[in-house]
Amino acid sequence: MTAAHAHPCLLLCVAMLLTREYGVTSLELLELRVPAHVALGTRAALSCRWALGPADVLYSVKWYKDGKEFFRHVPRDHEPRRKFPLPGVDVEKSSPNGANVTLYPAVLETGGRYRCEVSGERPLFPTVSDHGDMVIVALPDHGPTITGSRLRYQIGDRVQVNCTSGRSRPATRLAWYINGEPAPAVALLPPTHEKHEDGLETTSLALDFKVKPKHFRKGDLKLKCLATIATVYWRSNEESVQGERLKGYSRSRELTEGGSRADRVQAAGKPGSAPSLADAPYLLLLCVMIHISQNKFHS
Ligand SMILES: *[C@@H]1O[C@H](CO)[C@@H](O)[C@H](O)[C@H]1NC(C)=O
Ligand SMILES: *[C@@H]1O[C@H](CO)[C@@H](O)[C@H](O)[C@H]1NC(C)=O
Repeated sequence: MTAAHAHPCLLLCVAMLLTREYGVTSLELLELRVPAHVALGTRAALSCRWALGPADVLYSVKWYKDGKEFFRHVPRDHEPRRKFPLPGVDVEKSSPNGANVTLYPAVLETGGRYRCEVSGERPLFPTVSDHGDMVIVALPDHGPTITGSRLRYQIGDRVQVNCTSGRSRPATRLAWYINGEPAPAVALLPPTHEKHEDGLETTSLALDFKVKPKHFRKGDLKLKCLATIATVYWRSNEESVQGERLKGYSRSRELTEGGSRADRVQAAGKPGSAPSLADAPYLLLLCVMIHISQNKFHS
């Protein structure tokens, strides 16, 4: 008598006995890998690992995004692997057992909660599942820009400058530094966020303060705007290439900015000692500095 002919109750009894008497473990989901951050336009590799109990036969592996199924592997089906259309979820490749799926290309809609669900055959239909969240990251293609600065300031003048980030997602965070020190809260206006049609955002942060003698005590008055996307980190090689490109951006920024704003503005990319992309969050640091020379101080 094969399993297919046995009475379901009998199989149920056998399975329960095996579990109780011999401590036989049942279907178990061992690992689900969903990359937490994926750069726009790149590949997202998802994988799911499970272990079948001795009494289990694999029935199905199903993949969901935000509760909607987009891929299914049912070994007994006439079409064992099936894709279901879902906006932003393009299955480029899948492994024969449905454990690995690759999505390409990542678009903003690709972000969301991914679930892998593995089921065993009747009569128990054991089902295990796990989920992970994916955020699609769009890096700004240029560093922050500073507007409203003047060539010279006198003591008592008001400095009113504005820093605007490149378009990104998630939103870029901005911070102002005066002579290397974080600008006091009273000098800052609340940041403004502009959302564009394509889902990307720009952030602006205005700085407004009165020039005091202390600002020139150490020579030039330096204003720096720092842009960060603190959660941009990846763990695979493919994504570390993105990190390299990032540094390239801030370097080229140095050149263009230094060239276009001549002597009074110096743009400083600040990759610093870049943390290892493999195991540490990678900070995107792009900043622009303004030096106001003390020599030009009298107008
Ligand atoms: C599935 O993904 C895992 C983890 O990323 C990887 O180690 C494994 O080689 C992949 N298997 C296939 C068949 O692609
Ligand atoms: C700063 O610049 C942004 C973008 O140009 C603008 O939307 C915002 O109103 C400006 N803020 C101030 C205080 O000037």
